[in-house]
Amino acid sequence: MKGLVKIIKWAGIVLCSLIIGLIAFVQLSWDKKFDTPYPDITASTDSAVIARGRHLALGPAHCISCHVPMDKVKDAEDGMVMPLSGGWELSIPPGTFRAPNLTPDMETGIGKMTDGEIARTLRYSINKHNGIVFPFMPFQELSDEDMIAIVSFLRSQEPVKHKVERSKHSFLGKALMAFGVIKPEGPKDTPPKSVEIDSTLVYGSYLANSVANCNGCHTERDFKTGAFIGTPFAGGTHFLPDDFSEGYSFITPNLTPHKETGIMAYWDEATFILRMRGGKIHKGSPMPWATFARMTDLELKAIYRYLQSLDPADNKIEKIVFAPGE
Ligand code: HEC
Ligand code: HEC
Repeated sequence: MKGLVKIIKWAGIVLCSLIIGLIAFVQLSWDKKFDTPYPDITASTDSAVIARGRHLALGPAHCISCHVPMDKVKDAEDGMVMPLSGGWELSIPPGTFRAPNLTPDMETGIGKMTDGEIARTLRYSINKHNGIVFPFMPFQELSDEDMIAIVSFLRSQEPVKHKVERSKHSFLGKALMAFGVIKPEGPKDTPPKSVEIDSTLVYGSYLANSVANCNGCHTERDFKTGAFIGTPFAGGTHFLPDDFSEGYSFITPNLTPHKETGIMAYWDEATFILRMRGGKIHKGSPMPWATFARMTDLELKAIYRYLQSLDPADNKIEKIVFAPGE
């Protein structure tokens, strides 16, 4: 009997030490610093460059769907244009994440950030404090030209004073960073200097993969890690109810031209353009419909041609929209 008590006592001590060790490890090592060099990007004051950046930020790259105040998110979703003064907030198990003020205000915005710091956030997911940016912004492969355009547009906005608190990581969020599950994502290949704007497969692929994140939502992902596990564009990612979905949840449809299972298999180009301009139909959908409606005909044609050129993937998505509680 005495022996057993002793064993239990020792097992308890070992377990407690392990837990304390784990907590200490996470607390001491989550805030990793990175000295990744700044991309060689310099903002321009050329009005055509700024106009391109504005189009990207309010259109295909949809910065406006997150970098606006919480009480304006709905208006932005309905297509209203407003300064990118930040405030959108999402509470998920890894923490509370807040999209900061991107207007050039000196105290509360990007006024003191350099062009290189802004560009490095987007290309390498490393923030101005040299820490990890959580993977909300899949813009690693933006061309240099488009990166310059976006930074130039951000600088051209009227400064708006709007303080947004920094994101706050939970213990889980810190552990994910300490153990390297969440790490800074950089580009897979050297990003292009520029991509010719034309209704080509090259431009369609660039928009769908590197700018508008169609693949990020329409390719099945692992729930916990966010890793891509499905055939690209074949649908299947679950969107559970969150603060913005009004209780609805979704599974993304298959966008490949598979005759039985692809949602667009029988759509012609005009139908696709009409649908992309048509805005949100399903309440609570996470797809930034209003910003995508700002894409030009040429951009939508390029995306249509690219999606139709993909190998048909046989992936039946039985149901796309789930009502609250379903
Ligand atoms: C899905 C929502 C979402 C979209 C879309 C989005 N952002 Fe963000 N952004 C965030 C969040 C959340 C953070 C804070 C992340 C963190 O704290 O880890 C952030 C942080 C930033 C930062 C701050 C980095 C720092 O050093 O503090 C910059 C700059 C930025 N975003 C620019 C952009 C630009 C430009 C676009 C469009 C091309 C964009 N974002 C699109 C959600 C978004
Ligand atoms: C943030 C996630 C997200 C992004 C980014 C996204 N989608 Fe979607 N998409 C969804 C969800 C969820 C649905 C199902 C709900 C709905 O129809 O709104 C959907 C539905 C669709 C549909 C079916 C519409 C219908 O009427 O049945 C098409 C077509 C589509 N997306 C194309 C695209 C294209 C093209 C892009 C890139 C330009 C894109 N999506 C980017 C999440 C996304």
